[in-house]
Amino acid sequence: MGLPGSAGVPAAIAAQTLVIPYNDRAALEAVFAEHGDRIAAVIVEAAAANMGVVAPEPGFNRFIADTAHAHGALMILDEVLTGFRVHHAGFWALQVSTGEVYMPDIITFGKVIGGGMPLAALGGRADIMDLLAPAGPVYQAGTLSGNPLSVAAGLATLLRATPKIYARVDAAATRIADALDRALTEAGVVHAIPRAGNLFGVGFAAHAPRNYAEAQAQEAFRYPPFFHAMREQGVALPPSVFEAWFLTAAHDDAALSHIERALPAAAAAAASASRS
Ligand SMILES: Cc1ncc(COP(=O)(O)O)c(C=O)c1O
Repeated sequence: MGLPGSAGVPAAIAAQTLVIPYNDRAALEAVFAEHGDRIAAVIVEAAAANMGVVAPEPGFNRFIADTAHAHGALMILDEVLTGFRVHHAGFWALQVSTGEVYMPDIITFGKVIGGGMPLAALGGRADIMDLLAPAGPVYQAGTLSGNPLSVAAGLATLLRATPKIYARVDAAATRIADALDRALTEAGVVHAIPRAGNLFGVGFAAHAPRNYAEAQAQEAFRYPPFFHAMREQGVALPPSVFEAWFLTAAHDDAALSHIERALPAAAAAAASASRS
């Protein structure tokens, strides 16, 4: 609705954006039909992971790229959560490797690129990058820009992120996602385990949500008792059902077994949760 999502965002700034439902091609087409000459760019997560994990439906990201480009707009792909985590070249590369070929104009990175330290980055088409200072007129700088400690931590992490490490992260994610699925099934909890690469989450609904409205409609009240039951057993989960679970190569067999053992009691807590 183009409303400010947080206090302090002036309505005039929010009015510069148009928000449409995720995974909805008709909505994208309609917004371009109405405002095409005023739209500078479409910005979208490579796979949505801030409303729970909601993967783009096959072809959706390519459709965004094609539609934006047909109207002279840019596609900005936000890989802040997925970049360097699901693949060394991001969720985009996973899609390209399965035949969904498209080319965003700008890609944004964060999280893993700093190896856990504060760092963010963007990259893109050469003619766009040339607009940034000192080559071009767009000034961009800040306290943490190119922070040496963060860059060193990021470099150390990325240099160690070998195919073997990605295989371990993928296997750990699959193992825990499957265990989560089993525990909730055995406890009789209606659920779905949405996945996007090695990101996954839990949805308390019969089908994995496709968009924000569906994510909102789930039985989210089941998550707090689930979360606290896991925490009492020494497992720190994301604090909201609308966040992704991230496994790492540092989760060894002992840690993964610990998580697996904790799941049935948490699933039982979710099963007995009530709405109030
Ligand atoms: C998908 C996504 N994009 C962007 C951001 C914000 O990144 P930054 O703090 O570098 O602006 C976040 C923060 O968690 C995020 O999850």
